[in-house]
Amino acid sequence: MRAVVYDRYGPVDVLRIENLPEPSPVGRQVRVKVAATSVNLSDWEVLRGSPLYSRIGGLRSPAHRTLGSDIAGWVDAVGPAVTRFRPGDEVYGDNLMLKGGFAEYAIAPESVLARKPAALSFAEASTIPQAGVIALQGTDGAGAGQRVLINGAGGGSGSFAIQLAKRLGAEVTGVDNACKLDFMRSAGADKVIDYRNEDFTRSGHYDLILDLVAYRSVFAYRRALARNGRYRCVGGSVPALLRVLTLGSVAGWLTHRRLGVLAVRQGPTHFEPVADLCIAGDLAIHIDRTFTLDEVPEALAHVGEGRARGKVVVNVA
Ligand SMILES: NC(=O)c1ccc[n+]([C@@H]2O[C@H](COP(=O)([O-])OP(=O)(O)OC[C@H]3O[C@@H](n4cnc5c(N)ncnc54)[C@H](OP(=O)(O)O)[C@@H]3O)[C@@H](O)[C@H]2O)c1
Repeated sequence: MRAVVYDRYGPVDVLRIENLPEPSPVGRQVRVKVAATSVNLSDWEVLRGSPLYSRIGGLRSPAHRTLGSDIAGWVDAVGPAVTRFRPGDEVYGDNLMLKGGFAEYAIAPESVLARKPAALSFAEASTIPQAGVIALQGTDGAGAGQRVLINGAGGGSGSFAIQLAKRLGAEVTGVDNACKLDFMRSAGADKVIDYRNEDFTRSGHYDLILDLVAYRSVFAYRRALARNGRYRCVGGSVPALLRVLTLGSVAGWLTHRRLGVLAVRQGPTHFEPVADLCIAGDLAIHIDRTFTLDEVPEALAHVGEGRARGKVVVNVA
């Protein structure tokens, strides 16, 4: 099978296409013939080995040679203990632990997969598991009239998060680079901020801040929160995340605010509700661009260098 592989952390130049034997599923694993894989910022981070948390499982060299978590495709073979799927089933899921979606076949535990709804294409389905869940859990608790700010709102999770917060009746401010301001407005943001021109922590007080790319100090985040407001981050620099985990909880507690890192709960029970909203027409899937397997380096750079508005998909089959 054709697979995009790499053996050391680095820029996209470390990626190459190789012909590998098709992997065999064992135990509760299934082999998926990949139709489409969406790109997440986490793929870019694990390609580069930065931030440091992206090296979990492989401090010096990558734990897995092929990236690509968010897969959609056909079950092609099943391990002896698999009970939920059989060859031919159309599935999708976030294979964050094993990855392997930038290849013609990927091995995944059956527990991370769900049946793909017929109403969604493989490309559409592949956009949901990781970004949709981050958005759903990240906006949980937003309510009518609340001021919600989403930092990094022009990317994959952000485009879902804007819509989910609007659906809950919140007034939404999206923060991202200047190229994405119109896109964030079109996704439903009431206000937009170019982070290179304006510091959102000085732009007002918010009831909920979802930070997809945390780099600032705890005191800046605290300053941006209204009384009883909540700040939750899901990614960013390791020092910023550690500060939120340690200082953040104390600073928040002392000042009637809550600051924390959101450890996203993954799996079908968490992403299928997002797919249901997409099928019902309550949530739009924004696919900025699609790429081929040979173009995986360009696809990763498109996301990692901040050019993607919404999701980016690699059509494999
Ligand atoms: N906590 C968990 O369990 C968990 C699990 C999986 C993933 N994650 C994390 O969740 C996040 C999801 O990202 P995604 O896939 O939605 O990424 P994405 O599609 O790349 O979107 C991130 C956006 O943030 C923008 N950005 C970068 N630096 C910024 C800054 N300083 N201020 C404002 N915006 C900035 C990017 O544009 P520019 O590059 O142009 O600035 C991009 O538009 C990642 O951080 C990932 O590591 C967390």
